Amino acid sequence: MADYDVIVIGAGPGGYVAAIRCAQLGFKTACVDNWVNEKGQAALGGTCLNVGCIPSKALLDSSHHYHALQHEFKHHGISVKGCSIDLAKMMERKNQIVASLTGGVSMLFAKNKVTWIQGHAKLLSNSLIEVEDLHKSGDKQQLSSDHIIIATGSKPINLKLAPFDGERIVDSTAALSFNEVPKRLGVIGAGVISLELGSVWHRLGAKTVILNRGEKFLKSVDGQIAQAALKELQTQGLDIRLGAKLKGVKKHADGISLVYEDGKGETSLEVDKLLVAAGRKPNTDKLNADAVGLHINQRGFIEVDPQCRTNLQGVYAIGDCVRGPMLAHKASDEGIAVAERIAGESTEIDFTKVPWVIYTWPEIAWVGRTTEQLKDRDIKFNSGVFPFLANGRSLAMGSNKGMVKVLSDAETDHILGVHIFGPNASELIAEAVVAMEFSASAEDLARTIHAHPTLSETLHEAAMAAEGRAIHI
Ligand code: NAI
Repeated sequence: MADYDVIVIGAGPGGYVAAIRCAQLGFKTACVDNWVNEKGQAALGGTCLNVGCIPSKALLDSSHHYHALQHEFKHHGISVKGCSIDLAKMMERKNQIVASLTGGVSMLFAKNKVTWIQGHAKLLSNSLIEVEDLHKSGDKQQLSSDHIIIATGSKPINLKLAPFDGERIVDSTAALSFNEVPKRLGVIGAGVISLELGSVWHRLGAKTVILNRGEKFLKSVDGQIAQAALKELQTQGLDIRLGAKLKGVKKHADGISLVYEDGKGETSLEVDKLLVAAGRKPNTDKLNADAVGLHINQRGFIEVDPQCRTNLQGVYAIGDCVRGPMLAHKASDEGIAVAERIAGESTEIDFTKVPWVIYTWPEIAWVGRTTEQLKDRDIKFNSGVFPFLANGRSLAMGSNKGMVKVLSDAETDHILGVHIFGPNASELIAEAVVAMEFSASAEDLARTIHAHPTLSETLHEAAMAAEGRAIHI
C-alpha cells in the first residue's frame, strides 16, 4: 500500500487548495513544499501569499491611502499638514498580513489532516517521490502515492542584459521589500507586475520610468480599455515608454545607467533601482522530469490535457507550471477540479471565463473576448459602453475615471466579454463572470435590478447600451 492516496508538490494557491479538497474528499493527503520566508522559516501559500498577490495588494492599499491623502482629500474639503510615510511600519503591516494568511493555511492543513512536508520534492516515478529536507540538508526520504499533483508555480524571468542581483536590479519579490523609497525607479516591462509595483513606488514618491519592448500597451486587454488606462496612468505621472528596446545596463557607484532604443534612436536613463518584470517562467527544472519521462514543452511548461492529466498515469499538473494564464484563482480552480476528478467526479473548468484583474487605480478587469478578438474571428457583436463619469456613486466617491464595456453576440445577445477600467473593477467583474457562467444575455443583465447608487449600475447601463437603450448617457 502506498504511503499516501495523494501527494501534492507545491503549496501555492493551486497546491494547497488541491490538498485541502483531496483531504475533504477522504484521501490521505500530503503536501510537500520548499518555501522558506525572509525569517528562514518554512511557509505555506507559495508566491501568491508570500511575495505576490497578497503583499502587493497590502502595499497598493497603503500607497493608495498616502496618495489620496496628498492629492484627493483636498477635494473633499479635508486638509492635511505634515503627511509622511513610515516605510518600516508599512512593511511590517504587509508582513503581518502575509504571516496571518500563511499561518491560516497551516491551520487549515491541520484541521483537514493534510500532512505538511517541508522540503524539495523530485519525481522518482509516477508514484514515488524523493523529498530533501529543508532544514537538515542532505536528509532524504522516499514517499509513495497513488496520485501526484504537481503545482510548483513559476518564477521571474532573468534578463541576460539585466541579471537580478537582489540589491539594485531586482525581481518582484525584492521590490516588495525595499527599505527606502528609491528616488528613481526603472522598470523593465509594462505588464501586470510592472504596473502594480510601479504604481506602489510611484505613489510613495519614486520617479518611475517603465520601459516596454512592445509598441502596444497591455496587448491582451481590450484596446479601448488599454488606451484609457494608459492615458490615465500617464496623467498620474507614471512615465511609460513603449517600443523601448533595452540595449545596455551598467551599474556604477551612484546607480544604474540604462540605454534603450526606440523609434527616435538611443536614449540613456539613470535610475537608482531597476525592477525587471518581463514575465515569469514555470518552475519545472528540478522535478527530475526527463529521468521519469514527464513531458515538458520547450518553454518549460508541463504538458497536460484539458483535465490537467500529464502523460504519466496518475500524475496531474496545475497552475502556473501548465498552459493558461498565470493566475492564482485559475490554479485554485484547477486544484479543486483535479481533486474531484481523482474522486471520480467530472468537474470541468471553462477557461474562457477566467477573470483577469490588474490592480492599478482605477483597476482594470475583464472576462471573455476583447473587441479585437471578436473582429479577428469575424464574430458579429454589439458593444455597449458606459462611463463612470455618468455614475452617481463614482462621482460621490470622487473616482469617476474609466468605463464599462459589454460585448454581446449580435444574433443571440449572449455576453461574449466584459471589460472594466474603473474603481473597484476587481469586485465588479464578478457579476459579469457569474452572468457569463450562466450563459446570460446582455438583456438578462439589463433587466436585472441593480441597487442605486452603486458602481454596479455602470455594468447595468453598459448592458442596456449594448441594446442601444442606456438611460444616463
Ligand atoms: P507580463 O507577461 O504581464 O508582462 C511582461 C511585459 O514585459 C510585456 O509587456 C512584455 O512585452 C515586456 N517585456 C518582456 N521582455 C522585455 C524586455 N526585454 N524589455 C522590455 N520589455 C519587455 O509579465 P509580469 O508582469 O512579469 O507578470 C508575470 C505573470 O504574473 C503574468 O502572467 C501575470 O498573469 C501574473 N501576475 C498576475 C497578477 C494579477 O493577476 N493581478 C499580479 C502579478 C502577476
